[in-house]
Amino acid sequence: MENLQAKANKGTVLVTGGAGYIGSHTCVALLKQGYDIVVVDNFVNSSPVSLERVTKITDKTFPWYRVDLRNREQLSEIFAKHHIDWVIHFAALKAVGESVAQPLRYYENNLNATLSLLAVMDAHDCHKIVFSSSATVYGNPERLPLTEDCRLHTTNPYGTTKLMIEDILRDLCAADKQWTAVILRYFNPVGAHPSGLIGENPQGIPNNLTPYIAQVLTGKLPFLQVFGDDYDTSDGTGVRDYIHVCDLADGHLQAIAKIKTAGAHVYNLGTGHGYSVLEVLHAFERAAGREIPYQIKPRRAGDVAACYADPSRAEHDLGWHAQYSLDDMARDLWRFYTQNPHGYEEK
Ligand code: NAD
Ligand code: UD1
Repeated sequence: MENLQAKANKGTVLVTGGAGYIGSHTCVALLKQGYDIVVVDNFVNSSPVSLERVTKITDKTFPWYRVDLRNREQLSEIFAKHHIDWVIHFAALKAVGESVAQPLRYYENNLNATLSLLAVMDAHDCHKIVFSSSATVYGNPERLPLTEDCRLHTTNPYGTTKLMIEDILRDLCAADKQWTAVILRYFNPVGAHPSGLIGENPQGIPNNLTPYIAQVLTGKLPFLQVFGDDYDTSDGTGVRDYIHVCDLADGHLQAIAKIKTAGAHVYNLGTGHGYSVLEVLHAFERAAGREIPYQIKPRRAGDVAACYADPSRAEHDLGWHAQYSLDDMARDLWRFYTQNPHGYEEK
């Protein structure tokens, strides 16, 4: 029964940024569930190797285009060639610190790419979009756990692009009843596909916790700096809602399958559980089977003590909840790093 269901064509999804970290995992989930996909990516932060790996995992080929979303003409040609039922829009620049240093680049890329995409979709009569937003739109959490109606405000240009695009989608849905926009606010995506073939391609010194830990484990970095141990949390270190990237990918499939009404729909995608920096560190110690050196350092500027989701709206409306544990996330991320010590680059 499941096999038959998986074979039936469920429609075609255009995945922008499909070669990226979350995009590639979502491509795998879509193909496995019987969707056709078309990928558009300019590879500014990814490699076509990840798309080859998607084919290796699923045994399915699919069209992909090296196109910048801001190029309306080329994007339009893709929509003319393929009938697209849904768009999942991952493509964006995402480094918070870089966005503070280069705000115009972030506004230019993230906003213009989205405006171009929406115009081309409209011209080709495609009005269903899933958008990658972030818990960053909650800024300093008003209360915990965070529900979708909590106060929205941002603390950096990257976050502002996410909130501006959310507003654009809400305005669009209010003005034109043909549109359906599903806004998914991701908490902290970590882990990798259990095959070890796709994951987050490590580039340079990571800012985020789990890639940093992985690089300490591979010996590229000497120790983890724990940013603050005097927060009002269980062990004094910062608490976040880490979610396995495969659970996140499934959230997109559930959104496409379950949302039948036009308008803007907003969902938190998190587990609802917060883990401290030291709890994450210990999960990686268990995954790798050895101790991870760390030093306590001052708090990182702009960090909050704790941030975690109330994911009950997604559970209620989409029938979705996270399945993977923190140990699964650590094990799968560590497998990706051991199998791909240079990421997608062959060295
Ligand atoms: P990623 O950098 O791995 O993937 C983004 C992809 O978009 C890349 O392949 C990049 O080459 C492509 N891209 C960027 N600008 C483009 C353009 N103008 N035209 C075509 N392609 C373009 O990032 P990710 O971690 O997979 O994140 C996917 C989405 O989820 C992003 O919108 C990000 O802001 C959002 N998000 C990510 C996180 C996270 O921690 N990873 C958290 C919350 C939200
Ligand atoms: C960051 C981004 C956020 C983005 C999220 C995605 C900022 C201000 N926010 O959030 O917009 O959506 O990543 O995953 O950058 N930590 C250490 N040592 C390290 C790195 C991190 O102790 O080397 C701690 C941090 O202080 C924090 C926790 O680990 O308590 C998680 O940090 P990180 O992975 O950077 O994620 P966020 O801060 O939640």
